[in-house]
Amino acid sequence: FQPRVLAGRRILMTAGPTYEALDPVRGITNISSGRMGFALARACAQAGAVVTLVSGPVSLPTPPGVTRIDVKSAQTMRDVVMNAVGAHDVFIAVAAVADYRPVAPSTEKIKKSADRLSIELTRNPDILADVASLPAPPFCVGFAAESSNLDTYAQGKLVAKRLKMVVGNLVQDGMGGINNQVVIYDAKGRYPLPRASKEEVATGIVAHLASLLN
Ligand code: PMT
Repeated sequence: FQPRVLAGRRILMTAGPTYEALDPVRGITNISSGRMGFALARACAQAGAVVTLVSGPVSLPTPPGVTRIDVKSAQTMRDVVMNAVGAHDVFIAVAAVADYRPVAPSTEKIKKSADRLSIELTRNPDILADVASLPAPPFCVGFAAESSNLDTYAQGKLVAKRLKMVVGNLVQDGMGGINNQVVIYDAKGRYPLPRASKEEVATGIVAHLASLLN
């Protein structure tokens, strides 16, 4: 039994990696499995929220009761999020969005030629920052995946992106795997959760989110 602590909330989420095409058969992506975001989408729906999940390329089943929109690139993820965000009162960015994409993806398969090949990259939009700076933003929750200095970077993101809550994790603890260990940050402090399955971690995140919303 899970109390319906998010009843009446409309939550938009992103999850998984993005895929930035280099040519028709190759691209730049990362090791995000989507598990953390999908576990959180499931936990939010079980807690009574209406959930829309915008997912990068993953091989996971859609959690019961969740509306899922599949995307590949960061730019498409941003377009879908910006189009949907007005109908939601909470935005949770779990996706590991590529910060850069190839400037000029080739329409033809790139042929093997010289010994070295350089690919020029350009910055992708920051979806979470764009949502958080809307004139009437939803309640914004960010994630921070770091390889060191978790407290400093995660607290920095809370302030810089004007977020209500950040869930920090070390990439070596949770990215791509089954379990995770996270620290929640909000305006009042830091709240470490025990290392556990992503489903259990998601339940702890929902409890903290509900306590801030209600
Ligand atoms: O998918 P799993 O294998 O289960 O792994 C889970 C996870 C490690 C990917 C997840 O828990 C996590 O930490 N997700 C955020 C990963 C990330 O890209 O963090 P970041 O510190 O680079 O980005 C900070 C925040 O801005 C994130 O909320 C991110 O979704 C958002 N962002 C970042 C870049 C961008 N262009 N647009 C964004 O919205």
